[in-house]
Amino acid sequence: MNNTMQYRRCGKSGLLLPAMSLGFWKNFGTDADGATCREMVLGAFDRGITCFDLANNYGPLPGSAEERFGKILSSDLASHRDEMVITTKAGHRMWEGPYQDGGSRKYLISSLDQSLKRMRIDYVDIFYHHRPDPDTPLEETMTALADIVHSGKALYVGISKYSLCETKAAVSMLSSMGVHCLVNQIRLSLLDRKSEEVVDAASTLGIGTVAFSPLCQGVLTGKYLSGIPSDSRMGTGAFTRPESVTEEMMEKTRKLSVLAKKKGVSLTDFSLAWILSHQSVTSVILGARNMRQIKENLEALEVPAFTAEELAEIDAVCD
Ligand SMILES: NC(=O)c1ccc[n+]([C@@H]2O[C@H](COP(=O)([O-])OP(=O)(O)OC[C@H]3O[C@@H](n4cnc5c(N)ncnc54)[C@H](OP(=O)(O)O)[C@@H]3O)[C@@H](O)[C@H]2O)c1
Repeated sequence: MNNTMQYRRCGKSGLLLPAMSLGFWKNFGTDADGATCREMVLGAFDRGITCFDLANNYGPLPGSAEERFGKILSSDLASHRDEMVITTKAGHRMWEGPYQDGGSRKYLISSLDQSLKRMRIDYVDIFYHHRPDPDTPLEETMTALADIVHSGKALYVGISKYSLCETKAAVSMLSSMGVHCLVNQIRLSLLDRKSEEVVDAASTLGIGTVAFSPLCQGVLTGKYLSGIPSDSRMGTGAFTRPESVTEEMMEKTRKLSVLAKKKGVSLTDFSLAWILSHQSVTSVILGARNMRQIKENLEALEVPAFTAEELAEIDAVCD
């Protein structure tokens, strides 16, 4: 294993996470190339990426990313299970009928059982509630998470996409049940800073934060500045809501690429390093499509610390 990876403590807990985790949202599904997927998992692990971020619905098709990961784990990495942090989630639409979405005890517990079967493991390290569910009492969802920890099927639990107010309520409710809320997984990038308030409050709350879509699904690599490459996430139709990428975001991307050039690094590494400049961000989840992208993204760990002047220039572009 490579020793240059940095490991960060996840809030007030004993768990260290790698500064970069590997995500399975889009690139490990039924259509993905098996050899490329295996190369990414083994190559990431060799480089110190010990955290693998899954969810019940990752694919496409839903469930297929967990199946693929389970296969690679059992064939190549079974003896390394204790060196890995494996996460999964439930909270989005999954199977047929009324019990396959939301935050009910019924859904969360049966979904985790299905995830464990697909990944061929006895427990996950972190089980997340994938998104807040306003229709289910928070107490029911948090009690299910606490019971999952007590059952041993997850070592830790977390939440995802919870606002600051929802996070405070979840942390407090879990704490009253004797279970620590480990982490909130949030969308954070130079083009989407809405969750920075959660990051700012994290150390007071004693939780870690994990950042997803750090490159805004590829926009912050600069690949869309002069059209849409046919082999890109947007070009293949895999981009979630391409209409959400506005001309204003492209203009910001252009300006940020100038700042990255001035710093002597790629826009990709500049964007990832900016997220990691937040001390309360425990890990950034890479959504890479191949090993080349993982290697490029790991170079962000070498980007020199941002000066106050550089951070002010970034704020001026992003605000
Ligand atoms: N909790 C949640 O609700 C939630 C939601 C979304 C994601 N996540 C997690 O976060 C992970 C990352 O999210 P994301 O996939 O949106 O991340 P992202 O890094 O913002 O986007 C990944 C895409 O960026 C492009 N890319 C990455 N590195 C590149 C490089 N070096 N050069 C060129 N292009 C590069 C690739 O696009 P191309 O395919 O065009 O090459 C890749 O598919 C997911 O896998 C998942 O684990 C969680």
